[in-house]
Amino acid sequence: MSEPFFHVENISKSFVGVKALDAVDLSIAEGEIHCLIGENGSGKSTLIKVIGGIHKPDTGSVFIDGKCIDGMSPIEAIRAGIQIIYQDLSVFPNLTVAENISINQSLESGQQVVNWRAIRETAKKALADIGEEIALDELVGNLPMAKKQIIAISRAVTQNAKLIIMDEATSSLTNEEVKHLFSIILKLQEKGVSTLFVSHKFGEVFEISENITIFRDGKMVGSYPTTELDSQRLSAIMTGREVTFDRYIYKDKNVDEVPLLSVRNLSKRKQFSNISFELHRGEILGIVGLMGSGRTEIATSLFGLNKADSGQILVKGMPVEINNPQEAIANGIALLPEDRAGQGLYEDQTISDNIVVTILKSLLAKSGLIDTAKRKNTAEDWAARLNIKTPTVEAAVKSLSGGNQQRVVLAKWLATEPDVFILDGPTIGIDIGSKHTIHTIIRELAEKGMGIIMISDEIQEILDNCNRILLIHEGRIVQEINDTAKIDAEDLFKLVSERGSFEAA
Ligand SMILES: Nc1ncnc2c1ncn2[C@@H]1O[C@H](COP(=O)(O)OP(=O)(O)OP(=O)(O)O)[C@@H](O)[C@H]1O
Ligand SMILES: [Mg+2]
Repeated sequence: MSEPFFHVENISKSFVGVKALDAVDLSIAEGEIHCLIGENGSGKSTLIKVIGGIHKPDTGSVFIDGKCIDGMSPIEAIRAGIQIIYQDLSVFPNLTVAENISINQSLESGQQVVNWRAIRETAKKALADIGEEIALDELVGNLPMAKKQIIAISRAVTQNAKLIIMDEATSSLTNEEVKHLFSIILKLQEKGVSTLFVSHKFGEVFEISENITIFRDGKMVGSYPTTELDSQRLSAIMTGREVTFDRYIYKDKNVDEVPLLSVRNLSKRKQFSNISFELHRGEILGIVGLMGSGRTEIATSLFGLNKADSGQILVKGMPVEINNPQEAIANGIALLPEDRAGQGLYEDQTISDNIVVTILKSLLAKSGLIDTAKRKNTAEDWAARLNIKTPTVEAAVKSLSGGNQQRVVLAKWLATEPDVFILDGPTIGIDIGSKHTIHTIIRELAEKGMGIIMISDEIQEILDNCNRILLIHEGRIVQEINDTAKIDAEDLFKLVSERGSFEAA
């Protein structure tokens, strides 16, 4: 066999207390679309950082086009033709859209004088190529997650790359945007550009990839042509066990009781109007609709981050004012936000600091000081329940893999023991095995009397877990599905996407 276009050989990498990569190999042919998959913390991002020159491996080498690129700096890796969209995105929040897209090029040309016109031209062309319109002078920090991802993707595809690596670059994109991205990947493929694609979304993986490499616990446990795998087999190889999903049964229909939460005619100009619904103990209420339908705005509004213009919120029958998150928390409402990196975590601080930050008051001892033993137990207890992969809860959050960081955010809000918990994309970036764990925890909380609102793009996740569903379209509730046992994934998908194409027409 001839030398593959790109390959890594025998790469190992350890961090303190963790062997992140253990002698892994991976080969990609010219123009091949290759997928890398594995549970949270299995080493995917670490390998990508080794390829990009961010981490130096303990052993092994990386080759592209017959050239060994060991010891290269990130800029040299770019020059060698490797473009990476990192999981934490690394867009520069304080630079504009145009600057973010063109930055590699300006770095690479090594010019001393900034050519603003060229920067704008490059950015404009890049966005046009991928069919997006975003104002060039907008600061990237002000944009929603999906737009940040689009910018990172534009930056990568404008360069003359030989290999593009996408580390969960699609987690916030709409189905339409993913479709569009895939058409770009296929066009690049015609020019001989290879793609390494990392995603926890099986649908995407099966659609786009030709070959799939699977990591488990830092080891390469298999590499297969995509046609030889199906989702059952893939999840079994990934996790080493069978993962089965079942439906949540809402037993306790306490509809006569005062609802935990009543929302009456909540409206906000240009976002949503006349939103009314009730949430009872034990319920898991699904909110579905396309991105941009207003579902996230409704969630942030209930949490005091986006005050409605009119309408009423009642908690256990009493009207409440929610002007900020503190007031929401005081009323027993918590929100797991969509944009975890921006709103959820203090990355430089420890895992335990992040978990207890919202419940410090409850950890005070009689002396008025924090009860350190209780603090430690609480943090360790949640880390164990959510199976956070770390040698110690005193490690910095930024040392965790992406999916494990998500669990810390989840733990932090669960620790507040809210009455009403709003989850916006509860399992974004979570691997298939852990999804099941998180669903089980959510159901247990509901069974113990919490009311849960679940917003998700994943139709199956909504159907499995929710006893009732609200369909949102253009800021309004257009349908309520009261008995989810009577509907299947295909029906629900149709309901959501028909509304979607209606919008596009
Ligand atoms: N800078 C670091 N310091 C210490 N440990 C680290 C560091 N970076 C990664 N790790 C550890 O290495 C392991 C592999 O992490 P990695 O980020 O590669 O996982 P991943 O496969 O990308 O997971 P995910 O799907 O959650 O993104 C994890 O146990 C992680 O905690
Ligand atoms: Mg990762």
